[in-house]
Amino acid sequence: PSRLEDGVRVFALEARSGERSFAPATAPGASTPTWGFDGDFLGPTLRAVRGEDVAVEVENGLPEATSVHWHGMHLPAAMDGGPHQEIPAGGSWRPAWTIDQPAATLWYHPHPHGATETHVLRGLAGMFILDDDRTATAALPSEYGVDDVPVIVQDRRFADDGGFVLSGDGAEPGLLGDTVLVNGTVGPVHEVRRERTRLRLLNASTARSYRFALPDRPLTMIAGDGGLLDAPLPLDAIQLSPGERAEVIVEMRAGETLRLRSEAVELGGVLLPGASGGGDAFDVLELRAAETLEPSPEPTWEPSAHAEADALHETDAVETREFELNGREINGERMDLGRVDAAVELGATELWAVRSTQAIPHSFHVHDVQFRILSVDGAPPPPELAGRKDTVLLEPQRRYLLLMRFDDYADPDHPYMFHCHMLLHEDEGMMGQFVVV
Ligand code: C2O
Ligand code: CU
Ligand code: CU
Repeated sequence: PSRLEDGVRVFALEARSGERSFAPATAPGASTPTWGFDGDFLGPTLRAVRGEDVAVEVENGLPEATSVHWHGMHLPAAMDGGPHQEIPAGGSWRPAWTIDQPAATLWYHPHPHGATETHVLRGLAGMFILDDDRTATAALPSEYGVDDVPVIVQDRRFADDGGFVLSGDGAEPGLLGDTVLVNGTVGPVHEVRRERTRLRLLNASTARSYRFALPDRPLTMIAGDGGLLDAPLPLDAIQLSPGERAEVIVEMRAGETLRLRSEAVELGGVLLPGASGGGDAFDVLELRAAETLEPSPEPTWEPSAHAEADALHETDAVETREFELNGREINGERMDLGRVDAAVELGATELWAVRSTQAIPHSFHVHDVQFRILSVDGAPPPPELAGRKDTVLLEPQRRYLLLMRFDDYADPDHPYMFHCHMLLHEDEGMMGQFVVV
C-alpha cells in the first residue's frame, strides 16, 4: 500500500476500530471488537528496499492516543514512534527516514506510555519487510503469500460475549491466551505450491514465548531479527520470545500435510513453567501441499556489498554498561519519561551486559540498533542467536553480552527506548531511555 512521491516511498496507515469474527474460537455469530491499521485487525505488510527514502502518513482514528513504533528499524529517534511520539485521538504523524540496514523481517506496533499491551491485544501490529542487494539475487522463496509467507503469531483469550480479554489481572507474565491466531485467523491453513516455503515467523504476542517445530523434520533457519544468517541453519525447533522474528524454510513432499507446532519452551534444558509464558503446546499452522509441487532451489545467498560496513567488532567497544532486570525495574528504576538513563556517543561501539536477576526470563529489546550476542555466561551463543538481533530472551540469572554500534543519528532531545518486550512488564516500568549525542 505505497505510492512514490518525488522518489519517496509513502505509506498511509490509519489506526481505527472495527470488529471481526474469530470463529470457531467464539460462539457462532459472535463478533469481536478490534483495532487495526487500515482494516479491522493487524495491518498491511509494508515493504521497502535498502537505500530508499520512506515516509508514513499515520492517522489516529481511535478514541485514544497511540503511537507507531518501527521495531528493528535503524532510524532517527524522532521518527522511532516510541512513547514520546504519541499521536492524539484524531491526530496524525508523518515520520520519514532512509532505509539503511540489511534485508530483514521487521514489524510495527503501538508504543504508548503504559498502554502498549492493550493496544497490541486489540489488534494493532503489522510486518515491515526490508529487501537489499542480497535478497535481489538470492535463491530464496520470495513470492509473497505463495512461498514467502508472513506468520504473525499471537495468543488471545475470549470473553463469553466474544470480546478479547484485555487484562491478565496482574498474573505473571501478563495475559496468556488459550487460542493461537496466525495473521488474525483461528485454525489457519496455508496451501503449499512449491517444494520449499519460507515462513517469516513473528512472535507478536504480548507475553507468551513459543518453541516452533515440525513433527518429523528440521526447520531451516535462514534469518533472525536483523536479517540473513551467514548460512542456512537446520534446527529441530526454534524458540521466539515476544518481539523476536525468524525466517525459516520448510521442505514438503507432494500431497502431504504438516502441522507447525509450538512445544513447551525450554530454558537451559528446563521447561519454562506456564507462569513465565510458554509452558503450553499448540498447533500453530497447517501446511497442505498440493498433489504436484513446483520445484524450488536450494537456499543460497551471497554476502552483501555492505557486509564490511555493517560488521561489528568487539575490539571497537569503548564502553561497557550493565543492566539488571528484576520485577518491573531495570537497575533498580522504573521508566520515567523525564529521565535519560544513558548517553551514547554517535558512532560508538558498546557492550551491554544484560541479565534477569530473578527466576523468570525477560525479553530484552533495544531500539535503533541490531546487536550481536557475543556470549551467554561467557560461552558463545547457540547458532540461532548468532546473527543480528534486536530482541533476546534472557534466561534467568544468565549474563548476555551484547555488542552494538550507534551510527548516523545524534539527537540529544529525543531518546530511544530499551525495555522488556513482555508488554505488561514494559507498561509497568521495565523500560529505560538512551540518547545518542
Ligand atoms: Cu517492539 Cu520498544 O518495541
Ligand atoms: Cu523496538
Ligand atoms: Cu519482562
